[in-house]
Formats: sequence, C-alpha cells, structure tokens
Amino acid sequence: MVLRKKTEIGMINPSAKRPPGAIALQQFPALPLSYGAEGLRFEQVDLSELAGEFGTPLYVYSGPYILSALASYQNALGEDGEVFFAVKACSNIWILRLIQEAGAGADIVSLGELRRAQAAGFTGSQIVFSGVGKTKQEMQAALQADLRFLVIESAAELKMLEEVARVEGRVARISVRVNPDIAADTHPYIATGLGSHKFGVPAAEVLSLYRFASESPHLEPVAIGFHIGSQILSGSAHLAAAERILALADRLRAELDLSVKYLDAGGGLGISYDEKLSPHPASFIESLRPVLRGGLKWIVEPGRSICGNAGVLLTRVLYRKTNGKKDFIICDAAMNDLLRPALYQAEHRILAVREVKEELRADLVGPVCESGDFLARDRLLPAVDSGDLLALLSAGAYGFAMSSNYNSRLRPAEVLIDGPNYRLIRQRETFEDLLGPELRCGPG
Ligand code: LLP
Repeated sequence: MVLRKKTEIGMINPSAKRPPGAIALQQFPALPLSYGAEGLRFEQVDLSELAGEFGTPLYVYSGPYILSALASYQNALGEDGEVFFAVKACSNIWILRLIQEAGAGADIVSLGELRRAQAAGFTGSQIVFSGVGKTKQEMQAALQADLRFLVIESAAELKMLEEVARVEGRVARISVRVNPDIAADTHPYIATGLGSHKFGVPAAEVLSLYRFASESPHLEPVAIGFHIGSQILSGSAHLAAAERILALADRLRAELDLSVKYLDAGGGLGISYDEKLSPHPASFIESLRPVLRGGLKWIVEPGRSICGNAGVLLTRVLYRKTNGKKDFIICDAAMNDLLRPALYQAEHRILAVREVKEELRADLVGPVCESGDFLARDRLLPAVDSGDLLALLSAGAYGFAMSSNYNSRLRPAEVLIDGPNYRLIRQRETFEDLLGPELRCGPG
C-alpha cells in the first residue's frame, strides 16, 4: 500500500471563537462521489464496473478518504496525543494496515480483534484493549502481546487481571474506564456514559481501584479514561466528561501520589448521514483542549468518524412491487449485510448508480424473512428498476463489521479504492465458508 502525505480535506478556521464544547460543522471531507458517463463514481472508479467485476452486495471503501480523516485527528493532536482506531467500526485487515502505516494505533475489544490487529501489523504498544468483559484467555493473550494497556471496567475484572498477570509473571499496564454519568445526545443503544449503563466504573469507586493497582507488583496504572457513546454531534458531553475525569486524575495525584500518563477520551464523534454538515475532528479536538492539563497525553479512539463516510454498500435491485398502498424496492442486500437501519432506524443516503431523475416513495427491502428487514422505510428513493444498482452511503463504519450469515446468506465481498486503482480486500464468502464448521463435525 502506498504511503500518502498526511493531507486533509476541509480545514477549519482555528481562530474562530466558539462557546465551550461547540464544534465547527462542515462537510468533512467532501464525499468522493460524482456522476460520470458510466454513472456514479467513487473516487475515480465507476461503481458499475465494480459491481460487474465482483458482484453485489459489495462494500467499497476509499483509502484516501480514510487517511484524510485520520490525518485530521493526527494533525489536530500533534505531539499532545495519539489516535487508536476503533477496530470494531471496520475490521478488514487491509484497511487496518492502511491505518497502521499512517501511524495510528488500534483499539480492540476481543481476541479476534487482537488477531486482526496483529495480522495488520500493529505491534503490542500500538494496541489498547477496551471492553466490559475480557476473559482470562483474552487477558493472557494481551499480556503476552505486551499491549499499551488494558482498559478495566470493574473491580472484579481488575482482580482477575492481577491474578492472570501474576501467573504469567508479567506486569499489566492498565487504565480505568470511568462512568462519568453524563448523557450524550445519541440513539439510546449507543449511549454508554450514564450511571445506568453497563459500562465503566462509578466515580466513587475509581480511587480504590487505582489504590489496589498501585499496591500490586503485577499492575501498573498508566491511564484513566471514558467513552460516553457513539454518533455524538456536539463536543459538550465529551468536554463535561473530560472535566470529571481530570478532576479524578488530580485526586489520584493528591491522594495516592499517582500520576497517570494518558487521558483516554474514547471515540464517539458522529458523522453526517444526510447531506448536512458534520463536526470536524480538528474542531472536536480543539473543543477539548481547554481541559488538557497536567502533562497528560491524549488518546482518542475514533471509529465512525474515520471510516463511516469512506464506505458505500452497492446493491442490485431484484424487483419492484406494490401492494396498492405501498411500493417496495427489493434488492439483493439485506439486514444481514447492513443492520443499522433495522437496529437503530438509521437513514443512510441512497443514490442510484445510473442517474435516475424520477423519485418514488417506497421501502427498500432485502430478501430476509422479517418485516424488520429494511434498508430504508417510507423514503423518497430513485425510481429504479430490476437490474439497476443502488449505493447506500456512509456504510463504512459498523456496516460489514456488523454483518452476519442470517438466513444462511453469504457475507459480501469488500473492495478498497486507492485513487484510480482498486483491489479486492475480502472475497465474497463461499458455501464452503458457510457449511464448513458444521460439515467438519461429521454426522456423529
Ligand atoms: N471506544 C470504545 C470503548 C467504544 O466502545 C467505541 C464504540 C469506540 C471507541 C468507537 O466509537 P466511534 O468513534 O465509532 O463512535 N454499532 C453502532 C455503534 C456502536 C459503537 C460501539 N462503541 C452503530 O452502528 O451506530
């Protein structure tokens, strides 16, 4: 993969005055989509050509877009912090490799993601391990790989890690994820910072965990952090959370004589799923800067704001039908390929690949046997017909990563575009992939 200069599209005006936590909104960066003679193009590649070569449904990503979004974070942080990409958002190892080569780290939540990050070339010190329920096996693997740190989410988990580290004869570097009890304005399934959520440790418990860690020869507290949710479009909740966590870092210093090195502000910055403006990562980082003090280095774990708008899901229309009251466009992608509309009522923009001027109010649905299987509901869509291609935009984050084999459907292929070039980065699944784990068990 060719290394690119860290250029970014859509610079902000850094001298503009804004209230605390306010983030400049702008199209960040402009989506690399345009219509040419062969219809919709992504970067310099005709989507109809990709559908012809690799079939549909197909995930297509822009490498330059990913690198540009990443560079925005890196340039805004400068020497003050590091980006650890949230692997859960888009975990293809060739996209991870692109991100690794651009100098970022990886934020993982499972042994599977550790294996992916390692396959992509991340070293142990370029990986942090988050997640509310790490198993003993995951802790062992994390210690053997000498990760930057593990994020602890309960006293019980810290105790287990101490035991595992003792048996392994290692020192586990840790961070504690604090639950700041702060509401973030987002879908309830992806808000994580309230006291009622399963995530993090209540502020009142935090000091005792660090005391326990600093007294153990097998634990080394190096960070403190939070993650309050995802698809958050204002900086004020992050700012409030950072203030609470920094107050705790001050208490660690005053009461335990303990100075941690990193403040982990998690991920969560949202993107625009319509044509409206999105918060800019550089402005997001600027909005947090007033609370950065005490020589702490920042860690941020963005996922969606790096790759969300960098990916489209291409699907081919199978049929159109009407029941007299309602129109349906039935396509070859379904909820198993893109779960976000069914799970979060997410509305992804939809463009026809062949430019279609006429519109139709309809549901875009897949072949899965559930009424919850829709990609768009009661929306004005291009009036496409059988054989036409549609592109669902902003599908680069939590798209393929959340796909499944439901209805025994094969998961889609993935293609990565780099300027005028493209390549297959994941083959379409085969029936062998689907049946193998069962056939290998034999008839008994
Ligand atoms: N760090 C931690 C500890 C996380 O749990 C997450 C996301 C991130 C970072 C990255 O957050 P981001 O920058 O991507 O917002 N499936 C949902 C989103 C789930 C987010 C889970 N955690 C969706 O499709 O909207």
